[in-house]
Amino acid sequence: MKPLAILGSTGSIGVTTLDLVARFPERFSIVALAAGKRVERLAEQMERFRPRLVAVADEDARSQLIRLVPHFKGEILWGESGLCCVATVSEAKLVVSALVGALGLLPTLRAIESGKDVALANKEVLVVAGELVTRAARRAGVNLFPVDSEHNAIFQALRGHRLDEVRRLILTASGGPFLRRPRSEMAQVTRDDALRHPTWKMGDKITIDSATLMNKGLEVIEARWLFDLPADQIDVVIHPQSIVHSMVEYVDGSVIAQMGIPDMTIPISYILAYPERLPISHLPSLDLPRAANLEFYEPDEERFPCLRLAYRALRAGGTATAVLNGANEVLVAAFLRGQIHFTDIPAGIGAVLDAHQIQGSADLDTLIEADRWARTVTEQYIEEGERPRRLVVSSKGETC
Ligand SMILES: NC(=O)c1ccc[n+]([C@@H]2O[C@H](COP(=O)([O-])OP(=O)(O)OC[C@H]3O[C@@H](n4cnc5c(N)ncnc54)[C@H](OP(=O)(O)O)[C@@H]3O)[C@@H](O)[C@H]2O)c1
Repeated sequence: MKPLAILGSTGSIGVTTLDLVARFPERFSIVALAAGKRVERLAEQMERFRPRLVAVADEDARSQLIRLVPHFKGEILWGESGLCCVATVSEAKLVVSALVGALGLLPTLRAIESGKDVALANKEVLVVAGELVTRAARRAGVNLFPVDSEHNAIFQALRGHRLDEVRRLILTASGGPFLRRPRSEMAQVTRDDALRHPTWKMGDKITIDSATLMNKGLEVIEARWLFDLPADQIDVVIHPQSIVHSMVEYVDGSVIAQMGIPDMTIPISYILAYPERLPISHLPSLDLPRAANLEFYEPDEERFPCLRLAYRALRAGGTATAVLNGANEVLVAAFLRGQIHFTDIPAGIGAVLDAHQIQGSADLDTLIEADRWARTVTEQYIEEGERPRRLVVSSKGETC
């Protein structure tokens, strides 16, 4: 029996994980759950999976939850400290990190430092602090298991192989809903258009990131840290069918791909049961004749500048990827509120990156301050339409 703690249990990844726990009750149990504000959904999960500890976003959500589960005997916490308690709960053997955004950084780091293996879906953790988090995992001797379908595919394709025999990683991208939309029409796309992903059903933030191709940029950064390979050995191809989830090319020219239907159940199950495989019988098998053509294209960085911005930040290093991520989170939230156009997302990220003076080797405080700085100047950029001034984040985390 493997006891689990889940950060983000009410989200798309969290719900799929709990569905697997319900299907394999002899293999997994739930010790702790953390969610934000969807307290009705969390209350149902508590009823069903009986965690002894839960955490929610704030005090208000905690009060609502207490009213929904009057007989709950365990602890109900809130805020960042609550998330960190869930992440370090003593009985858990594996922590599923499925919060969205940089919010997941501290709890994921605390889970690692307390000796837990982590099933990582929350890619922004590695985008903000990849070097620091992977170093912490090595020091603690724990595993950072990739849940993201592309990295999970690479993890599977690397199994039994040596990293020094890898020529390059090839991440596939569906291309999102605007794959064939002309550049001139990009500014007019609506929130609903952008949330209509052709192949994957996911949370709102990652769905918008998929539409801008920033999701693939974030994944390139995630791959750099998970597999310890430089940006030059990580390529992206557009593959609209989302059947080939990613590939590894070896030095002899062999390419090993992992394929499957686009359903996060498969990569999540691979990590939950690793190194075994779970018998998943409730999903259809991959039907290649019906899938018909498998197409692959070069990404168009003119129409999707976010991918180029992500490579730029990765190559710049230090605080640059934390700033890229912070700006992106704020701009995506503004687009979802209907405050800005779709094309303002890459324009805003570019302007904020231009204004940022990178700190080379960044500790946690510096990264957190860079993230905060990026959010503040991005908000100003949105509110006032002003190009941000060039600012330095000092190693003590002060802006000067
Ligand atoms: N969905 C996918 O298929 C997929 C695939 C690969 C990677 N990922 C990555 O996995 C992560 C999660 O994605 P998702 O699609 O599952 O996101 P999602 O559906 O939006 O879920 C996010 C989770 O985080 C919780 N949360 C948000 N703000 C919080 C706060 N302040 N305090 C505590 N909890 C908070 C939400 O709680 P409430 O809803 O209760 O507010 C929810 O449980 C992202 O980093 C994404 O890029 C997702």
